[in-house]
Amino acid sequence: MAKKTPQQRSIQWFGRQDLHGFLYRSWVRNRGVPQDQFDGRPVIGICNTYSELTPCNSHFRIIAEHVKAGVLEAGGFPLEFPVMSLGESLMRPTAMLYRNLASMDVEESLRGNPVDGAVLLVGCDKTTPSLLMGAASVDLPAIAVSGGPMLSGKYRGTDVGSGTSVWQMSEDLRAGKLTLEEFHEAESCMHRSHGHCMTMGTASTMASMVEALGVGMPGNAAIPAVDARRNVLARAAGRRIVELVKGGVTISKILTRKAFENAIRANAAIGGSTNAVIHLIAIARRLGVKLALEDWDRLGRGVHCLANLMPSGKYLMEDFYYAGGLPAVLRELGEAGLLNRDALTVSGKSIWENNREAPCWNRDVIHTMKKPFKKHSGIAVLRGNLCPDGAVIKPSAATPRLMKHRGRAVVFENIEDFHARIDDPKLDIDERSVMVLKNCGPKGYPGMAEVGNMPLPPKLLKRGVTDMVRISDARMSGTAYGTAVLHVAPEAAAGGALALVQEGDLIELDVAKRKLELLVPARELRKRKARWKAPKPRLSRGYWRLYFDHVLQASEGADLDFLAGKSGAFVPRDSH
Ligand code: FES
Repeated sequence: MAKKTPQQRSIQWFGRQDLHGFLYRSWVRNRGVPQDQFDGRPVIGICNTYSELTPCNSHFRIIAEHVKAGVLEAGGFPLEFPVMSLGESLMRPTAMLYRNLASMDVEESLRGNPVDGAVLLVGCDKTTPSLLMGAASVDLPAIAVSGGPMLSGKYRGTDVGSGTSVWQMSEDLRAGKLTLEEFHEAESCMHRSHGHCMTMGTASTMASMVEALGVGMPGNAAIPAVDARRNVLARAAGRRIVELVKGGVTISKILTRKAFENAIRANAAIGGSTNAVIHLIAIARRLGVKLALEDWDRLGRGVHCLANLMPSGKYLMEDFYYAGGLPAVLRELGEAGLLNRDALTVSGKSIWENNREAPCWNRDVIHTMKKPFKKHSGIAVLRGNLCPDGAVIKPSAATPRLMKHRGRAVVFENIEDFHARIDDPKLDIDERSVMVLKNCGPKGYPGMAEVGNMPLPPKLLKRGVTDMVRISDARMSGTAYGTAVLHVAPEAAAGGALALVQEGDLIELDVAKRKLELLVPARELRKRKARWKAPKPRLSRGYWRLYFDHVLQASEGADLDFLAGKSGAFVPRDSH
C-alpha cells in the first residue's frame, strides 16, 4: 500500500472497508479504474475551466490529459472535474461579476470531494483569480497551470495584439482612417491559434502572477498555448502536485506575504494589468495575508518596466517567451535586491533558485534594471476627496504630460448615458476636459466592467487627439492604455464622491503627488450628498442580488464580504 500522509483526505472515502467504501470506490470504477488506484495514493483533482464559451481555454482537454499523465507517472490518482468557466470575450455584463461565484464553485467542489491536492487549469482573465481564490479557501496543495498565450497576431505584415490593436483599430474606424473591410479582415488575423490574449493584458499578467507567486511552475507565464513545451509544463505540474501532497505543502505555504510582494514587483516590471491589484488583494484576503492598496504603490516604486510588451510597448507574449520570459525578469529583480529570494515555490525550490541563472536572448524585449524599457513603472495609488478609499492609475500606459492635469468634468451618469452621447458632435468637450464615468463599479454596473478607458469622442479623434484624462469606478482591460484613473472607491453606486461630480466641476490630477481632487467646496458636496439617492440593483434575485448585497469595494478586492478567510478542507462525514 502507498504511504499515506496527513494531507490525504481521500482515504476517508476510498480507504474504508465497509458499505461506504464500496459505494465510493464502486462508482468511480465504472470507467475502468483498477483496484490498486485505491491503495492510499494521492488523489489529484484536475480543476478544468474548459469551455467552448471561453475560447481562450478551449484547448484545456489536451492540457488536462498531460497533467493526468504526470500525476500517474508520479504515482497519483487523477480525477478531472469541471468548474464554472468565465470567458472574457462573450460573457455579459462582465465576467468579473461571476469571479466570486466561480471561486465558490471551486471551493465547494474541492472540499466536498475526495481530493488531496489540485491542479488548477487557468487561462482567460477571471479563470485565474477565481480558481486561486477557491483553492486558497480550502488550503489544499495546489498548482496553477496556465493555458498559455496565443501566437502573435499578424495583419498585413505587422504584429497585432489582442485588445490593444482592437482599441487602435476601432478608433481608426470611427475616425474614418480604416475601412470596414479592413476591419473585418483584421478579425481573422488577430486570433489565429489556441490560447489567451497574447498582449500583456490581464490573462498574461495573471499567468505571470502565478509564476511570480510561486504557485505555478517556472515558465508558466509565457510558453505559447500551442508550443509543445506548454504540455511538458502541464505534465511536470502533474508530477509535482503528487510530491506536494506527500510533503504536506498546502497553498498557504506558497502564497505568503513574501510571495505577494514578489508578485507586486513582478507586475511593475512587466507593465502588468491594473486588474491584478483587485485579484491579488482578493486572493490574499482568502488566506488572511494582509495586503493593502498602498502596498502596490510602495513596493512598486523604484521598479522599472523591463518588458517591452503591448499595451505599454510593442512586442507580444510569443516574443517574450523566446526572449527568456518571466524568469529573465525575475532574475533582474533578484539581482537588484527587489525579490524575496527565499519565497518557496511549487517546484520545491525557492523563487531565486528557480530563476537565478535565467538567460535573456533579446534585450529589446526584456530590458535590464540598469537600462529599463520605461522608468518608474508600477501602479500609482491615488487619494483625495474624490477617492478617499483609493483609485489607481497605470503610469506606463498613460501619457506623461497628462499625469498632472486640471480640467472641467464632462460627466456620464452611467454606461448607457456614455454610449448615447459620446458620438454626438454637439457634445461640449475638448482635449482639456476630464471625462467622468459613474456607476460602473462593483455594485453599479454590476460587476465592475472594463469600461474605464472610455473611447474618445470622434470629433476629437478626427482632430488628432489621442489621449485624455478619464476617471471612473470601473476597471480597464489589461490590453488597454490611456490616462485612465480607475477603481475609484467608494464607487458612485455606494455613495462615493464620484456620484456627486457635476458637469463643469474642476478636477485636479497629480500623479506625482498621488492626488485626485474634486475642486468643489465641502459645503456644496454635503448638499449634493443630501440629495443623492442610491440606485436600485438591476436584478433583485439570485446571484445578482447576493452579489449586490455583499460585494466589497475595489480597494478590498471586490470579493463577497462573507468569503474572506480560509475555512480549510474539513467536511463532516457522510450520513449514509
Ligand atoms: Fe480571454 Fe482575453 S479574452 S484572455
